[in-house]
Amino acid sequence: MSNISVFGKGNMGKAIASNFEDAGNTVSFVAENDQVATLGDIVVFAVPYPAVAGIIEKYRAELAGNKIIGN
Ligand SMILES: NC(=O)c1ccc[n+]([C@@H]2O[C@H](COP(=O)([O-])OP(=O)(O)OC[C@H]3O[C@@H](n4cnc5c(N)ncnc54)[C@H](OP(=O)(O)O)[C@@H]3O)[C@@H](O)[C@H]2O)c1
Repeated sequence: MSNISVFGKGNMGKAIASNFEDAGNTVSFVAENDQVATLGDIVVFAVPYPAVAGIIEKYRAELAGNKIIGN
C-alpha cells in the first residue's frame, strides 16, 4: 500500500482521500501553511487551479519523482 499526500481538504480532497483510505492506503493532508519535509509516493492536488503553481514552487524538490494526480 502507498502513502498519499493530498493538498486541499475540501470537497474533492476529502472524497479522494476517502477512496484511497478505503483501499488501505495511508493519507496525509497538506494545508497551505504547512511545511512538510517529505511527501507521499502519490501526491494529489485537490486545490483551486491558481494554487497549483505555488505548491509546485514550494515543494519542487519533494515532488521530484513522485506520481501526481490533479483535478
Ligand atoms: N467539487 C467538484 O465536484 C469538482 C469536480 C471536478 C474538479 N474540481 C476542481 O477541484 C478543485 C478543488 O475543488 P473543491 O470542490 O474540492 O474545492 P474546495 O472545497 O474549495 O477545497 C479546496 C481546498 O484547497 C485548499 N487549498 C487552497 N490553496 C491551498 C494550498 N496552497 N495548499 C493546500 N491547500 C490549499 C483549501 O483550503 P482553505 O479552505 O484553507 O483555503 C480547501 O481545503 C478545484 O480546482 C475544482 O475546480 C472540483
